[in-house]
Amino acid sequence: MIMTLEQQSHNSLLELFDNTRKTTLELVKNLKKDDFGVQTAFFTSPPKWHLGHVSWLNEIVLSKTQKNYEFYSKEFSEYLNSYYNQFGKPHDKAKRGVMSRPTTDEILEYFDIITDKVKQVIRNPLEKNSVYLFTMAIHHECQHQELLVYDLQHLLAEHYKPAKINNFAVTEKKEKRGIRVKGGLYNLGYSGDEYCYDIELPEHKTFLNDYKIDNLLVSNAEYLEFINDGGYEDFSYWLSDGWVKVQEDEWTAPMYWEKDGDKWFTRDFLGRRKINPNEPVCHVSFYEAAAFCKWAGRRLPTEAEWEKAALWNDEKNVKTIFPWGNDKPTPEHANLLESNIWGCVEVGTFEKGQSHSGCYQMIGDVWEWTSSEFVGYPGFKSGFDEYNDKWFTNQKVLRGGSFGTPSKSIRGSYRNFFRLDERWLLSGFRCVEDV
Ligand SMILES: [Fe+2]
Repeated sequence: MIMTLEQQSHNSLLELFDNTRKTTLELVKNLKKDDFGVQTAFFTSPPKWHLGHVSWLNEIVLSKTQKNYEFYSKEFSEYLNSYYNQFGKPHDKAKRGVMSRPTTDEILEYFDIITDKVKQVIRNPLEKNSVYLFTMAIHHECQHQELLVYDLQHLLAEHYKPAKINNFAVTEKKEKRGIRVKGGLYNLGYSGDEYCYDIELPEHKTFLNDYKIDNLLVSNAEYLEFINDGGYEDFSYWLSDGWVKVQEDEWTAPMYWEKDGDKWFTRDFLGRRKINPNEPVCHVSFYEAAAFCKWAGRRLPTEAEWEKAALWNDEKNVKTIFPWGNDKPTPEHANLLESNIWGCVEVGTFEKGQSHSGCYQMIGDVWEWTSSEFVGYPGFKSGFDEYNDKWFTNQKVLRGGSFGTPSKSIRGSYRNFFRLDERWLLSGFRCVEDV
């Protein structure tokens, strides 16, 4: 099906699984017991829920691959089912934080029990489809590690103590420029032979006009110009639904920004701190990204434009898996979860991570909004019912990963998707223009 995983030895699956489970536990290592059950908004989930849910999804895979598999607990399954109607009626998402049972201790115990159960199974040779499903569960857990990062910022911000935190040296300032990319037919989608999600396939032809894309992400300084020019007060920059949102929710700046006198501050894992003008703007919704573009006389890239600028090597006439080539990301290429920086680095960082065309930070730091609707590619075949395909409506595609994305789960063809008004995620953007 989706991938050619025959090469994947059982040992590497076991190692990948083990490693992923350890990272999940590391993310909650320094939490206090009372932190685990709290849900701070309808769009977040309590940490204990994430831990249980990723384990429950492994139980789903066990039930699909093992004869007569019996679930750990009916009560757990109902609470931990996120949105899969095929497995019964899920618990109300907005009310995950009102449940004191299962307790945090019970869920931590459950987490370990499922880890052991899965290890026992994947230690042995598996059929191709089973390898696919267990691999999918690992990538699903990576997605929840990132969601946990978003939720921990909302819950604790600077009070969260990461297991590791690395300082990052600021690099010299780069000049912003538009990079001309040749249009024509482009093969959009995943081109490698390792794991990818069903929505990255099939690779297919799409037509592009010539365009210019910014080498740098939109910075806080640029976004502040939009704010200071009355961007949030003028309906003419906004999509109709976006303008309703601005008024209803009284948006005046990106999420987590607060004004103190005439200075803007943000609250994140690094503390309550002055906005750094050279960092990429983060925590903006699609509506805000689109409004900024309209104000600036620019536009957002389509996902095909984004991908070609990120992955196409014009000199060699070849597409790569990452902007820099096919080597897996390291902390020299991009700011991802394993970098342990716990914040964005300034725009124009990571020489080694540049795309062939010269764009910086297309992987890591912030997810980049595109103007593309999240739909299946032509010829799409679902790899798992209700996982991705039931969201093919009212969402936009984001590309590239963030400082909260685990490095083993990102690639240039990865399609993230969120609703247009969501902004608790690590989201920013870059602009393009027609030529
Ligand atoms: Fe999930």
